[in-house]
Amino acid sequence: MSQVYLNGDYLPLHDAKIPVLDRGFLFGDGVYEVIPAYQGRLFRLTEHLHRLQQSLNGIRLANPHSHEQWRQLLEPLLSAGHDQSIYLQITRGVAAKRDHAFPAQVQPTVFAMASPITPYADKDHGVGAITLPDTRWGLCHIKAITLLANILLRQQAIDAGCAEALLLKNGTVTEGAASNVFIVDQGALITPPKSADILPGITRDLILEIAEREHLSYHEAKIPEPQLRAAEEIWVTSSTREILPIVTLDGVTVGEGRPGPLWQRMHTLFQAYKQHAS
Ligand code: PDD
Repeated sequence: MSQVYLNGDYLPLHDAKIPVLDRGFLFGDGVYEVIPAYQGRLFRLTEHLHRLQQSLNGIRLANPHSHEQWRQLLEPLLSAGHDQSIYLQITRGVAAKRDHAFPAQVQPTVFAMASPITPYADKDHGVGAITLPDTRWGLCHIKAITLLANILLRQQAIDAGCAEALLLKNGTVTEGAASNVFIVDQGALITPPKSADILPGITRDLILEIAEREHLSYHEAKIPEPQLRAAEEIWVTSSTREILPIVTLDGVTVGEGRPGPLWQRMHTLFQAYKQHAS
């Protein structure tokens, strides 16, 4: 295993240790990013670092590094010629005692590691999803490390033999347990608008950018549950899964039961964009 980064040092993963009083460990008091790197080059770094800044603002934690410092810190973790994702996490640091209130004058803990991105095996055939009530908190736009609700939801999907849970709140779909959601309705692409109910996905934004450039019909609009269930296509998107077609929802076939024509087109455009950008 290559080296990981922890608080200024590069070291083997098994030597990377944090004290038990770290606020990330005790409270989940921290934020994170997952940044893909294709063939050793960070993809959409500016957008990911912008979202990191928004997350840090959301939890009132100062950014320990500038954009250029982040780049210099992350690049040594990458191996040329491989597709990887960087996981980076910042917590409020190690306080002298366990206390909910913010500690004074504590250095944040900064950790980063690279992992291989393995193409999702069933991407070309599509995968199943289930719907579940969105049990998460009210600040889902912050990429917080506190992911207990998300992991319980994802595990329920896995237990049902599915790849993702699509989350329903007040009669509309918000996003997946670890992904954004798109549907195709009468040929138009629809994804929920940004709000505190969803993570502003970097992959989501890129898909909308590509749709705009290609003059595809798209809207950012709330998707009521009946519209979700009647969709011609459903996709979930993330930095590690890219654009994943959903072909069954709660055991019911979506569209024709295979990845649809708009997915095919967007997937091809997305792959071309990746090549060009890396
Ligand atoms: N998760 N919504 C949620 C709740 C997510 O956790 C993610 C990604 C996304 C998609 O965002 P992006 O396109 O920027 O990856 C949406 C990452 C991959 C994770 O937690 O591992």
